[in-house]
Amino acid sequence: MASSPTTRASSVADILVEALPYIRRFSGMTIVIKYGGHAMVDSQLRDDFAQDVTLLKFIGLNPVVVHGGGPQINSVLDQMGIRPQFVRGMRMTDERTMDVVEMVLGGKVNKSIVALINRHGGKAVGLSGKDGGLIEAEKLKIVAQDDLDAPPEIIDPGLVGNVTRIRPEIINTIAEKGFIPIVAPVGTGPQGETFNINADLVASHIARALKARRLVYLTDVDGVLNREGRLISSISSTEMKALIADGTISGGMIPKIEYALAALQAGVKKVPIINGTKRHALLLELFTDSGIGTEVTA
Ligand code: ARG
Repeated sequence: MASSPTTRASSVADILVEALPYIRRFSGMTIVIKYGGHAMVDSQLRDDFAQDVTLLKFIGLNPVVVHGGGPQINSVLDQMGIRPQFVRGMRMTDERTMDVVEMVLGGKVNKSIVALINRHGGKAVGLSGKDGGLIEAEKLKIVAQDDLDAPPEIIDPGLVGNVTRIRPEIINTIAEKGFIPIVAPVGTGPQGETFNINADLVASHIARALKARRLVYLTDVDGVLNREGRLISSISSTEMKALIADGTISGGMIPKIEYALAALQAGVKKVPIINGTKRHALLLELFTDSGIGTEVTA
């Protein structure tokens, strides 16, 4: 049975009223959003995301987007006949690969997000971590010890960076003028090297430097699942650490959780991990009481 115009009107009104306390609470607050590669491949989802971010800005929040672009980088490497290689989830980044990463992330991917937000009426500005000295980095060295009896294995992923410092002035300057900063996760090393940096890590550091209220991870899963495989709606840092310790959480989710915990420790209030492949996930998480994914709290 189709709902009558009055029922629809009242349910729309209910939604707006439910959102009101959050709109009020978030007014003027910075929210850092990590926008991942998978939510980017579908054009409907891309439009939804651009609309959501534009709406946030217009209702008085200060959204800052940090994006990835793994699938897009792979496709260009592929066209160039370079086979992408990963070790422990990290892209082995030689100089040629770094050139492609920088061109794709800072160029094509960054500008298409900027253009789409602009088309939806927002004013976005693209930055790489090089602009205004935003992201300072150092070479990442990974020490892996799977076998406690063997010597640790040192993995050198090439031009992959760790964040050493964020200089947020450039973000603050453009955000204050009404622009939405869109950041590509590329940083500069002490010798002027260019480093490819994990976008989840960059988002966490930027959230800390900006004293953001929220750090939102848009992923391609619903959130964090408990032992029974059910979505955890809300969880504290302490409970989260216990789930890592007892093995309930494993694999690719662990680094993200660690970056989330670091942000919470530094004063970010909540880190929602939500499914970016669901339409308008961002708005549903922020402006409804129950949210849509898993919120991690301090
Ligand atoms: N919209 C509220 C907020 O952003 C509540 C979100 C609750 N989310 C959840 N996954 N339980 O603070």
